[in-house]
Amino acid sequence: MKQVKMLRDAMKNNYIVPAFNFANFEILRGILDACIETKSPVILQVSESALNYFGDDIMCGLIAGFRKMKLPISVHLDHGANMDIIKRVIKLGFDSVMIDGSTLPYKENVKLTKKVVDYAHARGVSVEGELGILAIANDDGLYSDGERFTNPQQAKDFVSLTGVDSLAVSIGTNHGVNKYIGEPKIRFDILKKIEKEIPNTPIVLHGASLVEQKYVDSINEHGGFIKKSAGNDNLLENAHKTNISKINMDTDFRLAYTSAVREFMDSKADKYCPRTYGRAGIDEVKRCAIDRIKKICHSHDKAK
Ligand code: G3H
Ligand code: 13P
Ligand code: ZN
Repeated sequence: MKQVKMLRDAMKNNYIVPAFNFANFEILRGILDACIETKSPVILQVSESALNYFGDDIMCGLIAGFRKMKLPISVHLDHGANMDIIKRVIKLGFDSVMIDGSTLPYKENVKLTKKVVDYAHARGVSVEGELGILAIANDDGLYSDGERFTNPQQAKDFVSLTGVDSLAVSIGTNHGVNKYIGEPKIRFDILKKIEKEIPNTPIVLHGASLVEQKYVDSINEHGGFIKKSAGNDNLLENAHKTNISKINMDTDFRLAYTSAVREFMDSKADKYCPRTYGRAGIDEVKRCAIDRIKKICHSHDKAK
């Protein structure tokens, strides 16, 4: 389904389209079961490394399967780095692509993003661009906040120069399990200024996983080692009332899946068929996705 249509409907009706990454089959299955049960539209996100893991022909087969499902699904390239990967996924039948030129100098980001927009739009594919840098918490010292956070005036210029359908912004969130060094904080004040400058552009929030402590504890109790974690717990409850129309979550499903599998293996040492612990992983991912759909996205019953 055309992603831009999905995002505009979400923006108009105060909900968020969940954009969930899948790293393996079990995570995909848990996400889809959750969306079917809650009647939620979904953006299924594939990074270049996830695509390499599945393989192009298998991904093509999966996309053919998604098309048969009675669910609004958009298959999306997450963090595309260059024209090669953009061309590769459009050939495979992806509905939308992200071009991430956020770490390039501004003018180069504009140039690359515009090139992708021209190529993708000519083929009916939606484009997400990114402006501002999602610093990794551990590397916080690399950028000052002024350089890191999206500049609202520049956002206006970027959207008009490139013609992107949606814009990923940097307002405090980060990727991965450890999102904050100090107090967890999302800069909704900056978001407001961005919304003023680009009122008709759906906003995308990366690094939106909640990183629940229960998953981290369970992984550590069952032989894992996650040293430091800090997530978005309680910070995104009002996000659906803003122009944020797409939130990206990957880490939460990695944690949900891994904690369930570790727990299962610890307690049922005699089982060795991958479908037994895979099932435990699917069920936990499904629970986690339903929670995010209902609590953060409010996208349940929005499948049309
Ligand atoms: O934002 C990045 C995603 O979490 C994808 O990560 O390249 O390890 O699949 P990945
Ligand atoms: P998390 O690491 O918070 O799940 O963010 C994922 C993401 O932004 C993928 O693009
Ligand atoms: Zn991301």
